[in-house]
Amino acid sequence: MDPIDDVLRLTADYAAQFHRTLDERPVGARASFDELRAALGGPLPVAGADDEQVVAELITGGEPGVVGTQTGRYFGFVIGSALPASVAADWLATAWDQNGFSVALSPVAAALEQVAADWLVAMLGLPEGVSSGFVTGAQGANTTALAAARGHVLAAAGWDVGRDGLNGAPRVRVLAGAERHVTVDRSLRLLGLGTSGLEVVPADEQGRMRADALREALGAGQGPTIVCAQAGNVNTGASDPLAEIADVCSAAGAWLHVDGAFGLWAAASPRYRHLVAGHERADSWATDAHKWLNVPYDCGLVFCRHPEAHGEAMAVAASYLQRADGRSPSDWVPESSRRARGFATWAALKALGRDGVADLVDRCCAHASRFAELLGAEPGIEILNDVVLNQVLVRFGDDDETTRETVRRVQEDGTCWLGGTDWQGRAAMRISVSSFRTTAEDVERSATAILDAANAVAGASRRR
Ligand SMILES: Cc1ncc(COP(=O)(O)O)c(C=O)c1O
Repeated sequence: MDPIDDVLRLTADYAAQFHRTLDERPVGARASFDELRAALGGPLPVAGADDEQVVAELITGGEPGVVGTQTGRYFGFVIGSALPASVAADWLATAWDQNGFSVALSPVAAALEQVAADWLVAMLGLPEGVSSGFVTGAQGANTTALAAARGHVLAAAGWDVGRDGLNGAPRVRVLAGAERHVTVDRSLRLLGLGTSGLEVVPADEQGRMRADALREALGAGQGPTIVCAQAGNVNTGASDPLAEIADVCSAAGAWLHVDGAFGLWAAASPRYRHLVAGHERADSWATDAHKWLNVPYDCGLVFCRHPEAHGEAMAVAASYLQRADGRSPSDWVPESSRRARGFATWAALKALGRDGVADLVDRCCAHASRFAELLGAEPGIEILNDVVLNQVLVRFGDDDETTRETVRRVQEDGTCWLGGTDWQGRAAMRISVSSFRTTAEDVERSATAILDAANAVAGASRRR
């Protein structure tokens, strides 16, 4: 047998066994960075090793550092699991070693991105004819969309930013809500728009940008303008009032960008679509497939109502880069060579279908509500947000230290994993339900573990 058979089989067998035993596996990592570095490091090998041996060593040395995002009891950050079909499709993209750069380099990668993008536009209720790009994540999508926005609003002011840069350009106004995601700021830094001039629009108690405050702020200035709204606050899950914001932006002639890393997926569910009503009126959208669609990392998505501005901001041409018929994936993203991200996204959409995606969103939201119900019923435990989507903020004993210690104990216990945050100046436990694997039983089991941790913390403080 060819040695490649052995190494691929070993990997597939291990992966299958890993998935079969997910329920018994710890959710948090069991080894520290330093331990892993020691296990996998040492001096640069002088001579090479057998493929099989390399992978066997990686499994043994690396597994203790694996975080259980594939389990149904991982509730940290906003992290989906990876659907089996999308994992397998991703393996094929790798086994075929396809480059997602162009049609000439991989007709199949280019075609899959086109098909998946068309399906996503239909599923998310975006306008027909929008351009799309497959990027690393919502960070990359925000940057790409805002680059298109920058070019478009400056072109309307008679300035070609692609040719002449920002030196001497008319000032671009950027407005965003006080509870925007930090990646928006990084995008503004990368694009030379900076953050000191960012006009921060006040948000309400759920983190939603206030449309009335936006109207007032827009009225106080003029010139090329970009507004960054949000579908799905990373803490509360609340979405900005997008329909009202779209009205305000169109009256002011501003470009409206929606950062919907996970919240945009509400549009895929008839039950939750109302939360993002008006999203289809934006000029650009950022979202992730690796969060709520449950595809493996990495995969973000950018969509743009103005394909010419999008293409002008991103596309490149050179004589050796032969063009073939079809949508060239690299015309819409800041990268050149890259992973063929369409494989996993196409497979996830094919495996779930429109109904399956809606059901995934609905189930995660129902699980989040159940968490709020189970935890909020206990004395001394407060749910800080309106649980409208898949995010729950929990506070213990109305005390920062008690809350942080409870989070720490839950992480140590290992039944589930979740993180902490500060919400409006108060420490909170943050629960995000984003995995297709999470079951009602996972929620009950995890809630019990959280309550046990909270009781232990309360008991310890009584004894002090
Ligand atoms: C609203 C929002 N925008 C952007 C991001 C960044 O996403 P990514 O890490 O996929 O780039 C996140 C991540 O949670 C988010 O919630």
